[in-house]
Amino acid sequence: MRLNLRLLADHDGKSARSHTTCKYKCGNQCFREHDNQSDNEYFGDITRRTVLRGAGIAVIGAGAASALAACGDSGSGSAGSSSSAASGAAGAAGGAPSENVNAPGLNFQAVAPNKTDAVTVPEGYEQAVVIRWGDPVVPGAPEFDFDNQTPEAQEKQFGYNNDFTELLPIDGKPNAFLLVCNQEYTTGEHMFKGYKEGDPTENQVRVEMAAHGLSVVEVKGENGSGKLTPVLGEYNRRITATTPFELRGPAAGTFFTKTAADPAGNRVLGTIANCSGGVTPWGTVISGEENYTNYFSGTEKPPLDGLAEGWKRYGVGKDEDNHHWMKFEDRFDLSKEPNEINRFGYLVEINPHDPKSTPVKHSAVGRMKREGGNIFVTQTGDVVTYCGDDSKFEYIYKFVSSRKIQQGKGAAATEANMRILDEGTLYVAKFEGAAVENGKVPEGGYKGTGTWIPLLTTKADGSAESHVDGMPAENVALWTRVAGDKVGATKMDRPEDIQPNPKTGKIYCALTNNSDRGVKEGQPGIDTANPRVKNKSGQLLEITDDHTGTSFSWDLLLVCGDPAAADTYYGGFDKTKVSRISCPDNVTFDAQGNLWISTDGTNDTFDSNDGLFGVVLEGKDRGLTKQFLTVPFGAETCGPVVTEDRVLVAVQHPGETDDADAEKPSSHWPDGGSSEPRPSVVAVWKKGGKVGS
Ligand code: FEO
Ligand code: CA
Ligand code: CA
Ligand code: CA
Repeated sequence: MRLNLRLLADHDGKSARSHTTCKYKCGNQCFREHDNQSDNEYFGDITRRTVLRGAGIAVIGAGAASALAACGDSGSGSAGSSSSAASGAAGAAGGAPSENVNAPGLNFQAVAPNKTDAVTVPEGYEQAVVIRWGDPVVPGAPEFDFDNQTPEAQEKQFGYNNDFTELLPIDGKPNAFLLVCNQEYTTGEHMFKGYKEGDPTENQVRVEMAAHGLSVVEVKGENGSGKLTPVLGEYNRRITATTPFELRGPAAGTFFTKTAADPAGNRVLGTIANCSGGVTPWGTVISGEENYTNYFSGTEKPPLDGLAEGWKRYGVGKDEDNHHWMKFEDRFDLSKEPNEINRFGYLVEINPHDPKSTPVKHSAVGRMKREGGNIFVTQTGDVVTYCGDDSKFEYIYKFVSSRKIQQGKGAAATEANMRILDEGTLYVAKFEGAAVENGKVPEGGYKGTGTWIPLLTTKADGSAESHVDGMPAENVALWTRVAGDKVGATKMDRPEDIQPNPKTGKIYCALTNNSDRGVKEGQPGIDTANPRVKNKSGQLLEITDDHTGTSFSWDLLLVCGDPAAADTYYGGFDKTKVSRISCPDNVTFDAQGNLWISTDGTNDTFDSNDGLFGVVLEGKDRGLTKQFLTVPFGAETCGPVVTEDRVLVAVQHPGETDDADAEKPSSHWPDGGSSEPRPSVVAVWKKGGKVGS
């Protein structure tokens, strides 16, 4: 029997977000029990009594607002009920700062919140679409034809729902770059006219499989503008749900990763649900496989008793089969191929400079619903990778490699460096801090200390040692969440992107929201790092880490939400002068060391579109938050890339609203008229000047 967790139009008071997004992107995680039901003791337990008292107050006091609690995993900011794509002008939803404060790198007039079906940028800035879903990527790709899509065409064209985006320089080619972009998930209703929910055709399924993965596209700049134009260059490549990957590390070649099609357990077809990512100092790209579980179904019963804990902890079998790929490929049917799912959930690495190279899945770094990963190199050359597991009450991890970077750019150096994530120690974070009261910001903000607890060490010869009692090394690599439970890791409010600031080495993590925080007896309450009951707007965590060591200190840079509300905190900056921000998702840094944050869920909180914000980190203006752009109706903001020449954002799922489909789109971005919306990457630049100058 299959689990059927389908929830129809009634959102059960959980969210104002598009149900379509919940269904296809994260398998309705916001509408069911969260996966972390472990009773591991962590510091929040100390304050549970206070928490539950706080919870009662908050829920009663929240009234209608509680019905707008932000949605669950990998949420989008889509409007749940309105179908009216705000027409051009106005639509400003209030919430602009009372005064425009400038700062180095952030000299622009903050964009006001709005519900416009367009990318809205500050005065003096220009924009252009770089590439859209369906645009040609590799030679021989046909032009996009919405009404006649084929898998053969799609696997040569730019994929759907672009997320992580990065520009890499190309040696010997000034003003040319490799644009590398994740394509996270698909929504059949918006991609195909006549799509039958729950019963896709084989052509539709295979187009969707080809629309997943990553795209590598050469782009050419032009003098005097930030515009980028795709080129059918020699590096261009599509990686899809069928591209062969090498699985490495302690999970590879085990009973749990062997399948009928791959008896050796080390050659996996495809990558899916690629959310965020990062660029390595050796020029490759890493990408996180996030909500992969809702691509697998067929049974709710694990084939072995020993798998029950792992399946429960990762929500396997709990998700609907939203993509229905099992109709045409047995490997997505858990009743026929129960191990295929164990070959997803990794940090994957691709070498965009070699289009023939085989991408790698690294299991020494653990397996989770991984947002992405980003690397910091210490002064002694040690390589540390930070990553988050983006589900409610999941953990933050780091991996300290035992290998150093081999200098040089040749194939041998890259091959050696692509082993860096295969050897070293994986840790999980435990936070400590004073007790807090729900919604009451302590004098001087929230802060504390923490410890990295070792889980798994993988050695150069491939052997691995577990640091978790009762768990063999391969199990730690495969069911890393369970290992985190056993050592008492801290349950966080959905760790999204986490990235070191190259200027200061401090680590920044977006904790996007958690509508289940502190709402039920016996469930995790608030703590200093996750200080709000039914957290709908999220917070921005700043970690000062002893990178290769096991201790750290931390504080909350932002506690997001309405600046006028008592429970928000903007780094100590005057809250009347900031742009309001909610549901932080992806982070990056500019040349001055300012933090830039893209959001996913603003519509849930403020009934305005998602956006991109710059935040001052150091000095008297710390906490100054300014909105640089907003994305079109129903979209979330991904990417982002911020340089002095241009800003790039990936506009994901424009017009993805419940009442919209391919026949009745609720957005017409980017092509206007009556066109279907197309997820696209956009470049924004300052006319005659540097970004933020
Ligand atoms: Fe795909 Fe964690 O958002
Ligand atoms: Ca998100
Ligand atoms: Ca996102
Ligand atoms: Ca994300």
